[in-house]
Parts: sequence; C-alpha cells; structure tokens
Amino acid sequence: MSNAVLPVYGPSPVVFERGEGVRMYDDKGKAYLDFIAGIAVNSLGHCHPALVNALTTQANKLWHTSNMFRVPGQERLAQRYVDLTFADFAFFTNSGAESIEGCIKIARRYHWSKGQLDRIGILSFEGSFHGRTLGGINAGAQEKYREGFGPRLPGFRSIPWEDVEALNAEIAKPDLAAVIIEPVQGEGGVREAKHDFLRTLRQLCDANGVLLIYDEIQCGAGRTGKLFHHQWIEGAEPDLLAAAKGIGGGFPMGMILATEKAASGMTKGIHGTTFGGGPLAMAVGNAVLDVVAGDGFLEQVRRVAGTMQQGMESLKGRYPELVLDVTGAGLLRGLKMRDDPLPLRGKLSDRGLLVGTAGNNTLRLAPPLVVTEDDVREALDIIDQQFATMMTAPGS
Ligand SMILES: Cc1ncc(COP(=O)(O)O)c(C=O)c1O
Repeated sequence: MSNAVLPVYGPSPVVFERGEGVRMYDDKGKAYLDFIAGIAVNSLGHCHPALVNALTTQANKLWHTSNMFRVPGQERLAQRYVDLTFADFAFFTNSGAESIEGCIKIARRYHWSKGQLDRIGILSFEGSFHGRTLGGINAGAQEKYREGFGPRLPGFRSIPWEDVEALNAEIAKPDLAAVIIEPVQGEGGVREAKHDFLRTLRQLCDANGVLLIYDEIQCGAGRTGKLFHHQWIEGAEPDLLAAAKGIGGGFPMGMILATEKAASGMTKGIHGTTFGGGPLAMAVGNAVLDVVAGDGFLEQVRRVAGTMQQGMESLKGRYPELVLDVTGAGLLRGLKMRDDPLPLRGKLSDRGLLVGTAGNNTLRLAPPLVVTEDDVREALDIIDQQFATMMTAPGS
C-alpha cells in the first residue's frame, strides 16, 4: 500500500482496530496489553463508557462555537482545575506543544507588562522535551529536534539536569523570564526530579523574580498518584503549568494553569485559539476529571503503581545483565536497560505487550490509570519471559 503520510513517523506494522480498557486488538483479532496508552494519553484506557457517553451526548448537541461565545463546559472545567490546584486561571489548548507555547508567551508578557522588555530568557534542562513547535524545540534541550530548523531562538538555553551550580549562575541573569522543567522527564529517560531540587528551584526563582513553569504534559493528570506530580512536593508550586495528554483521555486537548500574578499581563485579545476549550473537548475533559478526582481513584493508582515498581525492581534484581535501573514515578516508569531497548519493544509486542522507549536506553511503561494489579503482573510476566529468553539465547 502506498503511503501519502509525511514520512516523519516509523510506525510498527501492527494495525489496531479497537480497544477496551487496557487492551487493544489488531486487525487479526490478536489482543495486546497496552502499557504505553498512546504515550500517557489514554488515562482511562480505551473506550471508557463514561467518556464515550460524554463525547456522544455532546456530539448530538453542539460541536463548536469558537471562543467568541461562552462555553459552559469550559468555564466549569477551568473552575474545577483551579479549585484542585495552585492556579487561579486555566486556558484550554489542543495539544501539549500549544500549552508550552502559551506558557512561554504568558511568562514573557508578565515581565513585559512590568516594563522589563528584555526579560525573554527561557531556561530548560538537559534531556527535556517540550514539544515539536518552533517554541517547543527551542525550549527543549535536545539538539536533534532543532537540527535544520534554524539557529536557536534568542533567549532559549539549557543547563545540565539538577545542576544547582549552573542554575545559580543562570538564574541571576537579568534577561531570564522563566525556568521550565518536567517534574518527571518523559522522553529524556523517565527520570523524576529530586524533590529538594524542585524546592531549591522554586526558592531561586522567587529570589530572582523569575517565573517557574512545570511541563506536566506527561507526568500530570493523575499519572503519579496525585492530580499533578508536583503536588507530592511541599514548597515547590509553579507559577505556570502546561498539561495535555491524559487530561483528555484520548480526545485532543491541553491546558495551561496560571496564578493570577503570572497571568497579569494577559488581557483581552492578547492570546487565543480556535479549537481550544471547545464543547466536545470540554465534555470529555470534565468526564475524565469526574473519574480521576473521584473517590479512591488516585489511591488505587498509587497502590497499583507500588505493585508495578516492586515488580520492576524484582526484574532488575534478577536480570542485572540486562537492567541497570528502575526510574520514574507512579505509573510513569522506566527500565533503564544496558542496551538499546528498541528491539526489545518489538519482541514484547510480538508477545502481546505494548510498551514505549525513551532516552538513556529506557524502556517506558505508562499504562492507563485504570490498570489493575493483575494486569501489572501479567505485563511483568511477559517481560520476565522475554528476559529469560534473552539470557538463554542472546540476540533473541
Ligand atoms: C513532557 C512533554 N511536553 C510536551 C509534549 C508535546 O505534547 P504534544 O505532542 O501534545 O504537542 C510532550 C509529548 O510527548 C511531552 O511528553
């Protein structure tokens, strides 16, 4: 079959036809356990009845009006996220990268509105990934994503991960507008920032009048057992937060959360989007939050995450020739492998388990948050069997 899709992706040959809960089924009827969830997107698994109901009910009423009219579902969802977080305002987008762009704009505008026109610097950390728009690749620290797209835009720079000395040197520079960090890095190798480091970062930002942006596009939406990962850490709240992926449970949507102070430069007409906050996305977004913020849901995520971590540690203990470390937090976990995990990902898919990869030779596990302890055992058994085969027949 010819393929007219711009050749920027390298998809696996498997074609999926349907999904239910944590399982997907290919066009030959083979079942797969989904431990990547569209890269941390399908937070409630596939075709969750509450989400299907919310989407189809809204689809029969009204799809799109634009933000020239009030969208009641948008106002409701904004208020709910504000009530549950540090934020005073929410702005809805269509993707993670659009949320990042918005955060950068809000941060720069904050300083501009205070007369500090030269404060445009955005500091990020080695390994960070903030999306594929021009702003996203310039904010992110990975040069490979910028190659061929012109010189790095003015103001953007990066320092090594958790390097307090480098941070101290950069934070005091008078042009710095904001620091951006993933509290748990996804692409970069599924690594959790030390809580003390985030507290230090918060203090340094405060002391130097710099805004702090968290990119919780991958680690937010309940994935680590709190609605947003930074809520595990006292004294490290951001000024701005970018979300997407899991908050829509598979329907494209993103969100910026902002304090009143950070958003003080954002006045009427200064920013906008055609589709963000539309009735369909908001119907689904509210339904996702009903479940994730519902009684006992995040406790269950923590319980299952504990089982997953223990199981992964056990794999590390039994296969030290293959596994170097267990990384990440909650249900965003990495197995840092000795070798490139890409062939392993293919072998696991053959065995009916879908996982991802990330930087630093990391095998990435991000199952739907509705995963059970039995699902976790089943997935880790499949990995165990594959590791056992690799030990007895190297290269397999
Ligand atoms: C941490 C992080 N930031 C930003 C993005 C970009 O999000 P999107 O692909 O929705 O633009 C991603 C996507 O993988 C991400 O993981």
